[in-house]
Order: sequence, then structure tokens, then C-alpha cells
Amino acid sequence: MAGARESIHGQWSSRWMFILAATGSAVGLGNIWRFPYVTGENGGGAFVLIYLLCVAAVGIPIMMGETLIGRRGRQSPINAMRALALEEGLSANWRFLGWLGVVAGFIILSFYSVVAGWSVAYVFYVGGGAFAGTDATASAALFESFTGSALRVIGWHSLFMVMTGIIVARGVSGGLEQAVKWLMPALFVLLLVVVGYAMSTGDFGAAVNYLFAPDFSEVTGESVLAALGQAFFSLSLGMGAIMIYGSYLPAATSIPRTIGLVAVCDTGVAMLAGLAIFPIVFGFGLEPGSGPGLVFVTLTIAFGHMPFGQLFGALFFVLLSVAALTSAISILEPVVAWLVESFKWSRAKASSASALSAWVLGVGSALSFNEWADLQLVGKTFFDWCEFLSTTVMLPLGGLLVAIFVGWRMSQRSTMEELGVSDGFFYRVWRVLVQVIAPIGVLLIFGNALVIFLKDVGVLD
Ligand code: PFF
Repeated sequence: MAGARESIHGQWSSRWMFILAATGSAVGLGNIWRFPYVTGENGGGAFVLIYLLCVAAVGIPIMMGETLIGRRGRQSPINAMRALALEEGLSANWRFLGWLGVVAGFIILSFYSVVAGWSVAYVFYVGGGAFAGTDATASAALFESFTGSALRVIGWHSLFMVMTGIIVARGVSGGLEQAVKWLMPALFVLLLVVVGYAMSTGDFGAAVNYLFAPDFSEVTGESVLAALGQAFFSLSLGMGAIMIYGSYLPAATSIPRTIGLVAVCDTGVAMLAGLAIFPIVFGFGLEPGSGPGLVFVTLTIAFGHMPFGQLFGALFFVLLSVAALTSAISILEPVVAWLVESFKWSRAKASSASALSAWVLGVGSALSFNEWADLQLVGKTFFDWCEFLSTTVMLPLGGLLVAIFVGWRMSQRSTMEELGVSDGFFYRVWRVLVQVIAPIGVLLIFGNALVIFLKDVGVLD
């Protein structure tokens, strides 16, 4: 029954608080940093179309599934999975789904904090005028010289991780939502300003063509897997972040409506980021597939030329850092909630210990751009491996298990009750999506990518 349990960690004061927090979790570096560069690496339009399909057919139904598990379990993902599995007469081993999430969360937080650190650093670079009148070469050179310094990257990574740890230690319902209430709309407006600028000075036509005219000859099994991974990453799925936020959701709130809104906002921000970045890429002769530096190299060119660019640019990176912070806290929260529940640790202790562990792992990612740049395994650095394993493998795997759990293992009555719907059209569509489409989709995409990988390494021909 919805509301039968109570979370020991508290509850959102309203449905809007959940929407703000879940949107805060979903909208982050994934939309503005990762989406454009992964799109660039995978050839544009066809990738975007597959991404949108993944969001609609796999992401949103699983997001509803995660939220309903969270709200019904009212505990950290590990304990919620265990409690619900027992309640439904299933094996307590379902808690390992929670464990998978914890491991994925540590890995994601580790490299996320490194990139968020870049964003914080850029507030000062852009604000200090480092990009005034810059061109593509100079902007790329500055990015490389910045990320080339291990000390600087680790320093900003440390600062970001400390901020994340402090906020999570204080509990999420304090000042954060108040801040998010203003800062997220501000980010949206500023993104519109940059899109406007990119439209007037960059090659907007080429960008729209690149983003929305699908060329399926560019599509491979790996790029479909990348689109699926990006959908999970961007919607914060597959590792318990939305599950733990769902566990603080008031009983009377409609999950489908709330989640629908969060997913639309998330996708809208990603599309806007694409429309801000690609006109500059094509207008200034940059390479769309140039990797993780893309947003830092492109937008700084725009800020370097537009009126009040120094101010707008600094503000933009402040907002991007805040968006990253509201995502990072949702990655840390499930682990902290679990440590508090299971070992009776204080939030401060749980938060410092887990942030510190993720920080240590993050140092490996920070070094991947300088000291360890040549340390590669099958062409991937430590950073690339962390990103690939967590986002492209673990999140879809976690999502697959969530879909199986809510689609096949929980009783229909429980899921209907928690979604707050009757056995009508909406419920049937949702059920087909989680029972059939999402699992088959994930498995096919995994299988296909595995075959390509085995061919690449010469095991298959
Ligand atoms: N959704 C966040 C983003 O797009 O930046 C990243 C993220 C947050 C991933 C929470 C996973 C997660 F659980």
C-alpha cells in the first residue's frame, strides 16, 4: 500500500519539491556536456533519433518503475529491493540490484566530479576574460593546457566533491530545493540566450541538419548502445538515484504525471544544448567528434565574442556547476541513506566516507587527461573505462533488472496501486513497455554490441 511505510530520512514537502529534485538530478552535465559530445562521436541525427526513442520507450517506463519501487519501499535502494522482494514472496537476492547501483554510483560520481570541477574552474577562466576574442585553436589550446595540469584538475575535483559531501551530509530538504527553484530556470533561460547567439552567428542550418536529419549509414550497434546508455545517464536511471528520491515522495502524488514532466524537461535541455553547441562547431570549423572537451571549447568561443560575454559566460558555468551539484548529490544519496539505515552512521560520517572513496577513484580519471593519458587499455583511458562501464553497461543492466522486477515479479495489483492508475490503456501500455520492449531492447542492444566487440578483438570474424 502506498504510504504504508515511512522513510526514516524524511519526505519531500510537496510534489513540486520532488519534481525540482528529480529534475535537478536529471538535468546536469549529462545534458550539456555529455549529450552533445556523444552525439558528435556517433554521427548526429540518427543517434539523436535513437536516443529519443530510448528515452520514450525504455527510459520513461523504467523511471516510473524506479520511482514506484522507491516509494513503496521507502528505504535506500538495497533495503527497498530486499523489503519489496520479500513482501512479494521473492528472493532477498533482489537486493543485489541495489548493490549494482551502489557500485555504478561510485564510479559515476568519481568522474562526474572531475568534469564538474572543470566547469567550476571555467567560471573563473571565462569570468576573468581568458576567452575574450578567442578562436577555435586558442580555445582548444586553453582546454588542453588546463586539463593537462594534474594538480589543477585534482584541485577543482576536490572542491566539487567536498561541496557535494557537505550538502548530502546536511540532508537534501534544507536550502537546496530553494536554490534549485531559481537556478534551474535561470540555466534554461541562459541556454536560450546562447542558442539565440549561436543561431545568429554560427551555422545554425548545418547544426539543425546535423542534429535532426538522420543518416542511418552512421549507425552501428555500438552507437545504439551509446544512445541507450546516454538515455539512462541523462534520466539518472539504473543506479537508484530516482529510486531514493521516489522514497521521499508523498503518497498521494501521481507518479506518471510527475515523471513525464521531469523527462520532458531533461530532454528539452539536452536538445537546447545541442542547438547551442553545434552551430558554433560548424561555424568555426570545429570537429563534432572531438570528445569530452567539446562544450568547453565551443561555448567559450561564443562567450568570447558576444556582448557581455564575460559576464554571461561566467554565469553560465556557475549554473552548469549548480546543475552538476544537484545531480551529484542524487548519486551520493542512495549510498548515504543505506549506510545510515544499515549501520546507524550519522549522515555526516556516511557522507564523508562515501565522498572520500569516490574522490580517490576520481583521481584516476583526473590523471587520464595528463599523467596517465598514455595508460590505455584497448584504446580507452581510465576515465573512458569508468564512463563506459558505468554508463553504457551498468546503468542499462540495472534498468533491465528494474524492468523485470516491476514488469514480471511484482504483482499487477501492487504496481497499479503505486502508480495510482486502474487497469486501463495507460497501464497496459506501460506494462508492455516494461515487460517486453525495455528488456528485449536492452538485451538486443547488449548482444549486438558484444558481437561487434568480439569481432573487433578478433574472437569472431
Ligand atoms: N542525470 C545526470 C546528468 O544528466 O548529468 C547524471 C546522473 C545523475 C547519472 C544521477 C546517474 C544518476 F544516478
